[in-house]
Amino acid sequence: MAEKVCVITGGANGIGLATARMLAEQGEIVVLADWDEEALARSEQELAAAGAKVLAVPTNVAEKESVQALFAKVRQEYGRLDVLVNSAGICRLTPIDELSVEEWDLMMDVNLKGTFLCSQAAVPFFKAQKSGNIVNISSVAGKVGGIAVGPHYSASKAGVICLTMSFAKYLVKDGVRVNAVAPGPITTNMTDEWPDDVRERMGRNIPLTGRMGTVEEVANVIMFLISDQSAFITGEIIDVNGGVLMDI
Ligand SMILES: NC(=O)c1ccc[n+]([C@@H]2O[C@H](COP(=O)([O-])OP(=O)(O)OC[C@H]3O[C@@H](n4cnc5c(N)ncnc54)[C@H](O)[C@@H]3O)[C@@H](O)[C@H]2O)c1
Repeated sequence: MAEKVCVITGGANGIGLATARMLAEQGEIVVLADWDEEALARSEQELAAAGAKVLAVPTNVAEKESVQALFAKVRQEYGRLDVLVNSAGICRLTPIDELSVEEWDLMMDVNLKGTFLCSQAAVPFFKAQKSGNIVNISSVAGKVGGIAVGPHYSASKAGVICLTMSFAKYLVKDGVRVNAVAPGPITTNMTDEWPDDVRERMGRNIPLTGRMGTVEEVANVIMFLISDQSAFITGEIIDVNGGVLMDI
Protein backbone atom coordinates (compact mmCIF):
# COMPACT_ATOMS: atom_id res chain seq x y z
CA MET A 1 0.00 0.00 0.00
CA ALA A 2 1.08 3.60 -0.64
CA GLU A 3 2.43 5.67 2.19
CA LYS A 4 -0.10 7.00 4.68
CA VAL A 5 -0.98 10.71 4.79
CA CYS A 6 -0.74 11.72 8.46
CA VAL A 7 -1.81 15.08 9.87
CA ILE A 8 -0.23 15.87 13.22
CA THR A 9 -1.52 18.94 14.98
CA GLY A 10 0.94 20.38 17.46
CA GLY A 11 3.52 18.58 15.33
CA ALA A 12 6.14 21.32 15.64
CA ASN A 13 7.08 20.29 19.18
CA GLY A 14 6.93 17.66 21.89
CA ILE A 15 4.78 14.56 21.61
CA GLY A 16 3.48 15.55 18.17
CA LEU A 17 6.97 16.00 16.77
CA ALA A 18 8.18 12.71 18.27
CA THR A 19 5.24 10.96 16.58
CA ALA A 20 6.00 12.75 13.30
CA ARG A 21 9.61 11.54 13.46
CA MET A 22 8.50 7.93 13.94
CA LEU A 23 5.94 8.12 11.13
CA ALA A 24 8.51 9.71 8.82
CA GLU A 25 11.00 6.95 9.63
CA GLN A 26 8.33 4.48 8.52
CA GLY A 27 8.13 6.34 5.19
CA GLU A 28 4.72 7.95 5.78
CA ILE A 29 3.83 11.47 4.61
CA VAL A 30 3.68 13.81 7.59
CA VAL A 31 1.74 17.05 7.63
CA LEU A 32 2.76 19.21 10.58
CA ALA A 33 0.04 21.66 11.65
CA ASP A 34 1.00 24.14 14.33
CA TRP A 35 0.59 27.81 15.20
CA ASP A 36 4.22 28.18 16.35
CA GLU A 37 5.57 29.10 12.92
CA GLU A 38 9.21 29.27 14.01
CA ALA A 39 9.19 25.79 15.52
CA LEU A 40 7.13 24.57 12.57
CA ALA A 41 9.80 25.68 10.08
CA ARG A 42 12.56 24.20 12.24
CA SER A 43 10.82 20.83 12.56
CA GLU A 44 9.92 20.73 8.86
CA GLN A 45 13.58 21.33 8.03
CA GLU A 46 14.75 18.67 10.46
CA LEU A 47 12.42 16.04 9.00
CA ALA A 48 13.12 17.00 5.40
CA ALA A 49 16.88 16.82 6.06
CA ALA A 50 16.34 13.26 7.34
CA GLY A 51 14.66 12.39 4.05
CA ALA A 52 11.04 12.63 5.20
CA LYS A 53 8.08 13.55 3.02
CA VAL A 54 6.88 16.50 5.07
CA LEU A 55 4.53 19.43 4.64
CA ALA A 56 4.21 22.20 7.22
CA VAL A 57 0.94 24.12 7.40
CA PRO A 58 0.66 27.01 9.88
CA THR A 59 -2.62 26.33 11.66
CA ASN A 60 -4.60 27.51 14.64
CA VAL A 61 -6.69 24.50 15.62
CA ALA A 62 -9.04 26.71 17.63
CA GLU A 63 -10.22 28.53 14.48
CA LYS A 64 -12.56 26.80 12.10
CA GLU A 65 -11.34 28.70 9.01
CA SER A 66 -7.73 27.79 9.78
CA VAL A 67 -8.64 24.12 10.24
CA GLN A 68 -10.66 24.13 7.01
CA ALA A 69 -7.67 25.62 5.17
CA LEU A 70 -5.42 22.87 6.60
CA PHE A 71 -7.64 20.04 5.38
CA ALA A 72 -8.25 21.76 2.02
CA LYS A 73 -4.48 21.85 1.59
CA VAL A 74 -4.24 18.14 2.44
CA ARG A 75 -6.94 17.34 -0.13
CA GLN A 76 -5.23 19.48 -2.76
CA GLU A 77 -1.75 18.02 -2.15
CA TYR A 78 -2.57 14.35 -1.53
CA GLY A 79 -6.30 13.78 -2.17
CA ARG A 80 -6.56 11.54 0.90
CA LEU A 81 -6.04 11.37 4.66
CA ASP A 82 -5.18 8.26 6.64
CA VAL A 83 -4.18 9.40 10.12
CA LEU A 84 -4.99 12.36 12.34
CA VAL A 85 -3.06 12.87 15.58
CA ASN A 86 -4.55 15.70 17.64
CA SER A 87 -1.56 16.75 19.72
CA ALA A 88 -1.99 20.55 19.70
CA GLY A 89 -2.62 21.72 23.22
CA ILE A 90 -1.86 24.23 25.93
CA CYS A 91 -1.58 23.85 29.70
CA ARG A 92 -1.80 26.33 32.56
CA LEU A 93 -1.37 25.84 36.30
CA THR A 94 -3.75 28.69 37.21
CA PRO A 95 -5.70 27.85 40.39
CA ILE A 96 -9.50 28.12 40.56
CA ASP A 97 -9.50 31.42 42.51
CA GLU A 98 -7.43 33.17 39.86
CA LEU A 99 -8.90 31.69 36.72
CA SER A 100 -10.37 34.24 34.31
CA VAL A 101 -13.17 33.55 31.83
CA GLU A 102 -10.78 34.49 29.02
CA GLU A 103 -8.26 31.85 30.07
CA TRP A 104 -11.02 29.26 30.52
CA ASP A 105 -12.25 29.99 26.97
CA LEU A 106 -8.77 29.82 25.46
CA MET A 107 -8.12 26.44 27.09
CA MET A 108 -11.40 24.99 25.84
CA ASP A 109 -10.92 26.53 22.40
CA VAL A 110 -7.50 24.98 21.85
CA ASN A 111 -7.67 21.65 23.67
CA LEU A 112 -11.30 20.64 23.23
CA LYS A 113 -12.73 22.64 20.32
CA GLY A 114 -9.47 22.23 18.40
CA THR A 115 -9.63 18.45 18.75
CA PHE A 116 -13.28 18.54 17.70
CA LEU A 117 -12.75 20.81 14.67
CA CYS A 118 -9.85 18.77 13.29
CA SER A 119 -11.66 15.45 13.85
CA GLN A 120 -14.81 16.83 12.22
CA ALA A 121 -12.78 18.02 9.22
CA ALA A 122 -11.25 14.54 8.87
CA VAL A 123 -14.65 12.80 8.73
CA PRO A 124 -15.43 13.42 5.00
CA PHE A 125 -12.06 11.88 4.02
CA PHE A 126 -12.54 8.88 6.27
CA LYS A 127 -16.19 8.25 5.34
CA ALA A 128 -15.37 8.38 1.63
CA GLN A 129 -12.32 6.10 2.02
CA LYS A 130 -14.00 3.77 4.52
CA SER A 131 -10.80 3.87 6.55
CA GLY A 132 -8.91 6.20 8.83
CA ASN A 133 -7.42 6.57 12.26
CA ILE A 134 -7.59 9.31 14.89
CA VAL A 135 -5.44 9.47 18.02
CA ASN A 136 -6.22 12.16 20.58
CA ILE A 137 -4.12 13.24 23.54
CA SER A 138 -6.00 13.41 26.81
CA SER A 139 -4.17 13.43 30.15
CA VAL A 140 -4.12 11.78 33.54
CA ALA A 141 -5.51 15.15 34.69
CA GLY A 142 -8.56 14.52 32.50
CA LYS A 143 -9.34 11.45 34.61
CA VAL A 144 -8.64 12.64 38.15
CA GLY A 145 -9.01 16.45 38.06
CA GLY A 146 -6.18 18.93 38.27
CA ILE A 147 -4.10 19.45 41.37
CA ALA A 148 -0.94 20.96 39.89
CA VAL A 149 -2.61 21.84 36.58
CA GLY A 150 -5.63 24.13 36.44
CA PRO A 151 -9.27 22.96 36.44
CA HIS A 152 -9.77 24.21 32.91
CA TYR A 153 -6.94 21.99 31.62
CA SER A 154 -8.37 18.92 33.37
CA ALA A 155 -11.89 19.66 32.17
CA SER A 156 -10.70 20.11 28.60
CA LYS A 157 -8.87 16.77 28.74
CA ALA A 158 -11.91 15.02 30.27
CA GLY A 159 -13.82 16.42 27.31
CA VAL A 160 -11.26 14.90 24.94
CA ILE A 161 -12.02 11.47 26.44
CA CYS A 162 -15.74 11.77 25.67
CA LEU A 163 -15.01 13.26 22.26
CA THR A 164 -12.81 10.25 21.51
CA MET A 165 -15.60 7.82 22.38
CA SER A 166 -18.21 9.87 20.51
CA PHE A 167 -16.15 9.93 17.29
CA ALA A 168 -15.27 6.25 17.74
CA LYS A 169 -18.97 5.34 17.91
CA TYR A 170 -19.86 7.64 15.02
CA LEU A 171 -17.20 6.24 12.71
CA VAL A 172 -17.10 2.59 13.77
CA LYS A 173 -19.20 1.33 10.83
CA ASP A 174 -16.86 3.12 8.41
CA GLY A 175 -13.86 1.11 9.54
CA VAL A 176 -12.35 4.13 11.28
CA ARG A 177 -10.71 3.74 14.68
CA VAL A 178 -10.56 6.58 17.20
CA ASN A 179 -8.50 6.25 20.39
CA ALA A 180 -6.60 8.41 22.84
CA VAL A 181 -3.62 8.29 25.11
CA ALA A 182 -3.75 9.77 28.61
CA PRO A 183 -0.15 10.65 29.47
CA GLY A 184 1.14 11.50 32.92
CA PRO A 185 3.74 14.27 33.18
CA ILE A 186 6.07 14.22 30.16
CA THR A 187 9.18 16.34 29.62
CA THR A 188 8.31 18.84 26.84
CA ASN A 189 8.18 22.62 26.37
CA MET A 190 4.81 22.46 28.11
CA THR A 191 6.19 21.10 31.37
CA ASP A 192 9.49 23.00 31.05
CA GLU A 193 7.38 26.06 31.89
CA TRP A 194 6.39 24.59 35.26
CA PRO A 195 8.28 25.69 38.38
CA ASP A 196 11.28 23.45 39.21
CA ASP A 197 9.70 22.16 42.41
CA VAL A 198 6.51 21.08 40.60
CA ARG A 199 8.51 19.25 37.91
CA GLU A 200 10.73 17.63 40.52
CA ARG A 201 7.73 16.45 42.58
CA MET A 202 5.90 15.17 39.50
CA GLY A 203 8.92 13.10 38.48
CA ARG A 204 9.58 11.76 41.95
CA ASN A 205 5.95 10.59 42.23
CA ILE A 206 6.10 8.33 39.16
CA PRO A 207 6.28 4.81 40.66
CA LEU A 208 7.81 3.06 37.66
CA THR A 209 10.72 5.39 36.93
CA GLY A 210 10.96 8.17 39.51
CA ARG A 211 11.14 10.59 36.58
CA MET A 212 8.75 12.22 34.15
CA GLY A 213 8.05 10.43 30.88
CA THR A 214 9.74 11.10 27.55
CA VAL A 215 8.01 12.08 24.32
CA GLU A 216 9.13 8.80 22.76
CA GLU A 217 7.42 6.83 25.53
CA VAL A 218 4.11 8.45 24.51
CA ALA A 219 4.77 8.42 20.76
CA ASN A 220 5.43 4.65 20.88
CA VAL A 221 1.89 4.11 22.15
CA ILE A 222 0.44 6.52 19.57
CA MET A 223 2.28 4.49 16.89
CA PHE A 224 0.73 1.31 18.27
CA LEU A 225 -2.75 2.88 18.04
CA ILE A 226 -2.08 4.00 14.47
CA SER A 227 -0.77 0.58 13.44
CA ASP A 228 -2.65 -2.61 12.57
CA GLN A 229 -1.27 -4.08 15.80
CA SER A 230 -4.25 -2.37 17.45
CA ALA A 231 -6.76 -3.33 14.73
CA PHE A 232 -9.35 -4.54 17.31
CA ILE A 233 -9.16 -1.42 19.51
CA THR A 234 -11.40 1.63 19.19
CA GLY A 235 -12.89 4.13 21.64
CA GLU A 236 -10.09 3.30 24.08
CA ILE A 237 -8.11 5.63 26.32
CA ILE A 238 -4.66 4.22 27.09
CA ASP A 239 -2.81 5.42 30.19
CA VAL A 240 0.86 6.23 29.58
CA ASN A 241 1.81 7.38 33.03
CA GLY A 242 4.47 5.20 34.66
CA GLY A 243 1.91 3.77 37.08
CA VAL A 244 0.93 7.05 38.74
CA LEU A 245 -2.74 6.23 38.08
CA MET A 246 -4.07 2.71 37.69
CA ASP A 247 -7.76 2.58 36.90
CA ILE A 248 -10.21 0.26 35.15
N1 LIG B 1 3.70 17.20 28.50
C1 LIG B 1 2.84 16.60 29.34
O1 LIG B 1 3.13 16.38 30.51
C2 LIG B 1 1.49 16.19 28.84
C3 LIG B 1 0.73 15.32 29.64
C4 LIG B 1 -0.51 14.93 29.21
C5 LIG B 1 -1.01 15.39 28.02
N2 LIG B 1 -0.25 16.25 27.27
C6 LIG B 1 -0.83 16.73 26.01
O2 LIG B 1 0.00 16.34 24.94
C7 LIG B 1 -0.21 17.24 23.85
C8 LIG B 1 1.14 17.70 23.32
O3 LIG B 1 1.75 18.51 24.30
P1 LIG B 1 3.33 18.52 24.54
O4 LIG B 1 3.56 18.10 25.92
O5 LIG B 1 3.99 17.83 23.43
O6 LIG B 1 3.59 20.09 24.54
P2 LIG B 1 4.35 21.03 23.49
O7 LIG B 1 4.11 22.40 24.00
O8 LIG B 1 5.73 20.56 23.28
O9 LIG B 1 3.53 20.79 22.14
C9 LIG B 1 2.26 21.33 21.93
C10 LIG B 1 2.22 21.90 20.54
O10 LIG B 1 0.89 22.39 20.28
C11 LIG B 1 1.00 23.60 19.60
N3 LIG B 1 -0.24 24.36 19.76
C12 LIG B 1 -0.73 24.89 20.90
N4 LIG B 1 -1.87 25.54 20.64
C13 LIG B 1 -2.10 25.43 19.31
C14 LIG B 1 -3.11 25.90 18.44
N5 LIG B 1 -4.14 26.65 18.89
N6 LIG B 1 -3.05 25.57 17.14
C15 LIG B 1 -2.01 24.82 16.67
N7 LIG B 1 -1.02 24.38 17.44
C16 LIG B 1 -1.07 24.68 18.75
C17 LIG B 1 2.21 24.29 20.20
O11 LIG B 1 2.71 25.31 19.39
C18 LIG B 1 3.16 23.11 20.35
O12 LIG B 1 3.96 22.93 19.21
C19 LIG B 1 -1.07 18.38 24.40
O13 LIG B 1 -2.41 18.16 24.04
C20 LIG B 1 -0.91 18.23 25.89
O14 LIG B 1 -2.00 18.76 26.59
C21 LIG B 1 0.99 16.63 27.63
